[in-house]
Amino acid sequence: MNQKAHQPDSLPAPGPTALGASEKLVALISDEIAAAGGWLPFDLYMERALYAPGLGYYSGGAVKFGRRAEDGSDFVTAPELSPLFAATLARPLAQALEASGTRHLMEFGAGTGKLAAGLLVALDALGASFDSYSIVDLSGELRERQRETIEAQAPALASRVRWLDALPETFEGVVIGNEVLDAMPVRLFSHAGDLWRERGVVFDGGALAFEDRPVTSPADAALLAETGIAGDYVTETHEAGRAFTRTICTMLARGAAFFIDYGFPRHEYYHPQRAQGTLMCHYRHRAHGDPFVYPGLQDITAHVEFTGIAEAGVEAGADLLGYTSQARFLLNAGITDALAEFDPNDAARFLPAANAVQKLISEAEMGELFKVIAFSRGIDGTLDAFARGDRSHTL
Ligand SMILES: C[S@@+](CC[C@H](N)C(=O)[O-])C[C@H]1O[C@@H](n2cnc3c(N)ncnc32)[C@H](O)[C@@H]1O
Repeated sequence: MNQKAHQPDSLPAPGPTALGASEKLVALISDEIAAAGGWLPFDLYMERALYAPGLGYYSGGAVKFGRRAEDGSDFVTAPELSPLFAATLARPLAQALEASGTRHLMEFGAGTGKLAAGLLVALDALGASFDSYSIVDLSGELRERQRETIEAQAPALASRVRWLDALPETFEGVVIGNEVLDAMPVRLFSHAGDLWRERGVVFDGGALAFEDRPVTSPADAALLAETGIAGDYVTETHEAGRAFTRTICTMLARGAAFFIDYGFPRHEYYHPQRAQGTLMCHYRHRAHGDPFVYPGLQDITAHVEFTGIAEAGVEAGADLLGYTSQARFLLNAGITDALAEFDPNDAARFLPAANAVQKLISEAEMGELFKVIAFSRGIDGTLDAFARGDRSHTL
């Protein structure tokens, strides 16, 4: 097969082994496009690019998480940025465990394992009673990395950690997912005149390319009508994220589920200013919009539409426990108290900690774009982390 790669000059070129793996993935996807009659919906393409066994971005060998491109990493997340993120998040999690009378935790998409290690240590230090910390990740490749981090950073608590291959039917405890919803496949749609088209993927002249087809399904038309979009526009819908939330909230028999991610409520998401949509790719700490660059070697994400997530959780019978900005949530949960434990005279430790906290809560960085949404079952009242500045009414 003759492949023509999308290779922007502005991005560093991968090594030959990584490029070979990417070409293998493109061959697999192009076979799938042919078997489907020449066109694949974008969510299927994104699923393969991120999760195809051994070749997808999360299931292959890419470094992914880290602070600098020189490490071979592509992006940084809050738990990678500062241990104060986990130390602060542990407080509302401990409060939720106590309020629900449960003793188990379950993390989805645990990345390098830093959040798990940090939470284990902080929960223990807070005196929270918990028996197990389960990790669920679509990426088997990350499991070994997570085990090493937890054994190095929380050795006394590592025996409480287990990895699940399948979800239990019911779960009593506290669920956590940081930047998991943004890694779920989305469908793409374009609007022009008064016509909606679905944007899919074709293999054209040896290269992956977009092709739009008219929307014919009444269910899709109804979903798109909810956006209120008029005029020229390209956007995403989040069926996988909604289905995931429904599954978690159905499984949750008692306790709470917290999801932290970047995104907006529906009325802000489908805003005239976002006419190009929110699909974004990350490669070596550079963000761009072409999902066909180095398939399997770069991250592909979309912002989360939180109204749809809230609806899915409530449809599954859970209560919406709260929804607010990451800044408000972390401030309510006491991130500045955690920082105050650093001696300002010890500049070598204090300054990096203060800089990281600033990134987590500043409006111009992660504080406002990132939100926390939580669902509960069997918890009366709210948690301190949502006590001030709850925005559930904006969903
Ligand atoms: C952007 S990474 C975030 C990693 C980590 N939570 C952090 O903050 O550094 C997204 C992670 O979510 C995982 N993921 C995506 N969908 C998932 C699902 N349905 N169940 C479990 N993990 C999932 C991916 O495999 C990946 O490890």
